[in-house]
Amino acid sequence: MSRIAYVNGSFVPLEEAKVSILDRGFLFADGIYEVSAVLGGKLVDNDSHLLRLQRSVGEIALPLPETLDRIKAIQKELIARNNLVDGLVYLQVTRGAAERDFPFPKEVTPTLVMFTTVKDIINAPAAKTGIAVKTVPDIRWERRDIKSVALLAQVLAKQAAAEAGCQEAWMIEDGAVTEGGSSSAFILTQDDVLVTRQNSNAILPGCTRKAVIALAAERQLRIEERPFTVAEALAAKEAFITSASSFVQPVVRIDGQAVGGGKPGPVAARLREIYVEFARATAD
Ligand code: PDD
Repeated sequence: MSRIAYVNGSFVPLEEAKVSILDRGFLFADGIYEVSAVLGGKLVDNDSHLLRLQRSVGEIALPLPETLDRIKAIQKELIARNNLVDGLVYLQVTRGAAERDFPFPKEVTPTLVMFTTVKDIINAPAAKTGIAVKTVPDIRWERRDIKSVALLAQVLAKQAAAEAGCQEAWMIEDGAVTEGGSSSAFILTQDDVLVTRQNSNAILPGCTRKAVIALAAERQLRIEERPFTVAEALAAKEAFITSASSFVQPVVRIDGQAVGGGKPGPVAARLREIYVEFARATAD
């Protein structure tokens, strides 16, 4: 049976889900997206994703075509129509289809699309084995806090990582790690301080990052939000990434060099467990 997608008010088989070639998402990457995890048929930390959606569209003066409550209802209906148990819901809103001209069109209806993907995030082998990352220069624009669909820099970063046999890219700017190609980056220092870069225009404010920081703080872990270098990461006890599509995954190699003895560490494993407990307990 075909997957069901959502396009501007209709639920249709994925093959029939189409938008115009004049859509500004296609022509200008003039759009915003969000990815929420689904566990046991329920959305994980989704309010956090919808609040970030609202912030992102606000930053580019893009009116949402539906209220956040209605968007949540559509996400839920899509999960139900696809019988999705574990996976992801992708949603994208663009400024809509109009004659190609750079300034915002006067009369245009935003495009809203959603689709689901089956993914077993809980049992991903990388959670046990850890992942390898490759560093690349961060060549992105200066508003990375906006979850824009302009992802070419991340596509190139993650392709370079894949070609080097790595599962994620860590992007480097002014000698420090900004974040992963599609994840937030953390290290645990030798004196047990959890370090991740502070939110600013330089990174996406990760929803999983935010939840993991709060959960770690509740458990009295020391946290410093500041930039860190690759040298610091290589000297760290542990390193890991967080995202809606991976939750928490240990990093065991950076550019071929072992981190934390090349094995996943106990703190990343524990934070993953705690995050999964939180995700299951709060999913709706
Ligand atoms: N990416 N940083 C970047 C650049 C990202 O693209 C993502 C998420 C994150 C983590 O954010 P969150 O914890 O809210 O998922 C950080 C999604 C999963 C993607 O593009 O598929």
